[in-house]
Amino acid sequence: MATMESLIGLVNRIQRACTVLGDYGGDEAALPTLWEALPSVVVVGGQSSGKSSVLESIVGRDFLPRGSGIVTRRPLVLQLQKTEQGLQEYAEFLHLPKKKFTDFSIVRKEIQDETDRLTGKSKQISPVPIHLSIYSPNVVNLTLIDLPGLTKVAVEGQPESIVQDIENMVRSYVEKPNCIILAITPANQDVATSDAIKIAREVDPTGERTFGVLTKIDLMDRGTNALDVLEGRSYRLQHPWVGIVNRSQADINKNVDMIAARQREREFFATSPDYGHLTSKMGSEYLAKLLSKHLESVIKARIPGIASLINRSIDELEAELDHLGRPVAIDAGAQLYAILELCRIFDQIFKEHLDGGRPGGDR
Ligand code: GDP
Ligand code: NA
Ligand code: MG
Repeated sequence: MATMESLIGLVNRIQRACTVLGDYGGDEAALPTLWEALPSVVVVGGQSSGKSSVLESIVGRDFLPRGSGIVTRRPLVLQLQKTEQGLQEYAEFLHLPKKKFTDFSIVRKEIQDETDRLTGKSKQISPVPIHLSIYSPNVVNLTLIDLPGLTKVAVEGQPESIVQDIENMVRSYVEKPNCIILAITPANQDVATSDAIKIAREVDPTGERTFGVLTKIDLMDRGTNALDVLEGRSYRLQHPWVGIVNRSQADINKNVDMIAARQREREFFATSPDYGHLTSKMGSEYLAKLLSKHLESVIKARIPGIASLINRSIDELEAELDHLGRPVAIDAGAQLYAILELCRIFDQIFKEHLDGGRPGGDR
């Protein structure tokens, strides 16, 4: 069925195809424009605010490198694809096509190795993204981008420019009008000083594409609570804030698994005298569903705009194919055909949606 779920899947495929094609360095304007027209969710926040933990909770898996300092040093584009119940969960990297990872500790190692491949063992950063897809019956369809944490000072061995470089990298993502910002803010810190909120406010002053995520609610001082933030009195956004309790460092050291962690998070909110009335709108599972639903509605609203871009892309791709022919372009040619094919499928589905959709149309 050409449901919204499969639309997100299609958007994912187009994004991957654009990326592969980008490697061939075409000056073609249509594809980068197309990529930018497709919505994605970007995780933004200060160092150690809990970005990677939130991502892992949404996925329900341990697979991200962690530690203190700047662990995330390249953007990670994470595409979650929901598969049928009972199917084996696996991950796949764009730079290692056809290799299926079922052991997520090896996924973590590959992210580390692939980061180092471009940045050396130094603590440098690189704007070149790593693309990872996770296929699982237990995820919602979603594309999430993990970015290096905003920081105020360079650590030993890093150039002074790294502070500004990270900020520029983050800004290059969040300033795109189609970027949905997940602003990660630790509850044991003043919201007014949140790096995530600071940059989100700059690029999205009305807060219509910012989701405030309040982490570390379990770490607040005794006698204080986060209700002013969660109920929108401290810093109001168009979307409600979502409170999160991730695993603590001690939990990670003790190998508390994700299922137990989610269970504990649910219990934390359900049994809390402060947050009990908000419990159905708190936690990482709720956040994942909220984001997926939002992404679907954004894609739906953008269908006419994306459809006309796709049409332009089809024309330009066809023109480019006409001009190909040198041996070096064989791979590029195959990629162009692949993306052209996707664009056509996309175009078809969009037409169905614009026509009001056919009931039960199979795809
Ligand atoms: P990142 O640098 O923003 O990606 O942050 P991480 O996700 O790596 O988290 C940094 C540290 O904070 C880790 O030791 C986490 O265990 C801890 N942490 C993150 N979120 C929470 C939370 O909600 N509660 C507690 N107690 N610790 C958290
Ligand atoms: Na970190
Ligand atoms: Mg991180």
